[in-house]
Amino acid sequence: PKEKGWITQYLYLYQQFWYRPTLIQPTITFQKHFQAKHDDIVIASLPKAGTTWLKALAFATMKRHHFIPSQNDHPLLHSNPHTIVPYFETNIGDNPSVIPDLSTLPEPRMFGTHLPFPSLSNSIHNSNCKIIYICRNPFDTFISYWHFSNNIVPSPLPTLTLEEAFERYSEGIHPFGPFWSHVLGYWKASKDTPNKVLFLKYEDLKADINFELKRMAQFLDCPFSEGEESGGVIDSIIELCSFKKMKELEINKNGKALDGVENKYYFRKGETGDWVNYFSPWMTEKLSKIIKEKLSECSLSF
Ligand code: A3P
Repeated sequence: PKEKGWITQYLYLYQQFWYRPTLIQPTITFQKHFQAKHDDIVIASLPKAGTTWLKALAFATMKRHHFIPSQNDHPLLHSNPHTIVPYFETNIGDNPSVIPDLSTLPEPRMFGTHLPFPSLSNSIHNSNCKIIYICRNPFDTFISYWHFSNNIVPSPLPTLTLEEAFERYSEGIHPFGPFWSHVLGYWKASKDTPNKVLFLKYEDLKADINFELKRMAQFLDCPFSEGEESGGVIDSIIELCSFKKMKELEINKNGKALDGVENKYYFRKGETGDWVNYFSPWMTEKLSKIIKEKLSECSLSF
């Protein structure tokens, strides 16, 4: 089935989630042909949940012995995180029916994805590769996505009003939605297989990035040593990946990521709670009710 979705585009229901039409073929190709390696790292999320930040943090942490986080030649100072950690479904090739040779990428290979957990390739499910999921409160995720979609729509295409977009979001009709199924899929996987899936929250990262970064490094089997901690390595990674630092980089002010989206649109406010500036009381009530109902089986609260 298809539904009139975001940005005046139809979205298609595929394996119980909504997709932009151009993403279906690459997704099927990825599902059929992607060969995971045991040490691959997958950064998974819904759009606007904090993917850019998490890609940067995971890359800087994993590759810190190769690329010193405090040095001027660090790749994150010269490339956007989406270029460094490409998405399976949009970035890894020009031909949507073919996966390019990824076997020679430096290990551990790192990829991003917005695909829901059950739709990842079998080879990911069956290998020892690790998945880090970032979840963000649906209020802020929605507002962030609304701004992002308005920015990337080629004018003069009309965009949806906030209320129209909200109605669809509340029905779960948005790219990779419904959000509750997406979140629950990864949340359950993180409970069933805690060594394979780490579930993070944007809000927790904002509240205590030092703690969450150490947790992530531990999960990735590359914990920070005491020497690294006292020597300022953790602080350098946090600084390198901070919103303020990344937003001000030339590459993120004027560059484009692999999918042609201007990098600047990945950095808006970088705050928690901006939704209060947009939601009317009926919207707040409606979304709170949905979250309560749909996410009642897990201990997530926002
Ligand atoms: P806002 O629109 O609320 O500002 P994604 O990376 O998944 O596309 O999510 C984008 C959201 O994360 C945007 O939220 C963006 O500003 C915020 N963001 C991007 N980089 C960040 C960083 N380094 N630290 C914190 N938030 C960041």
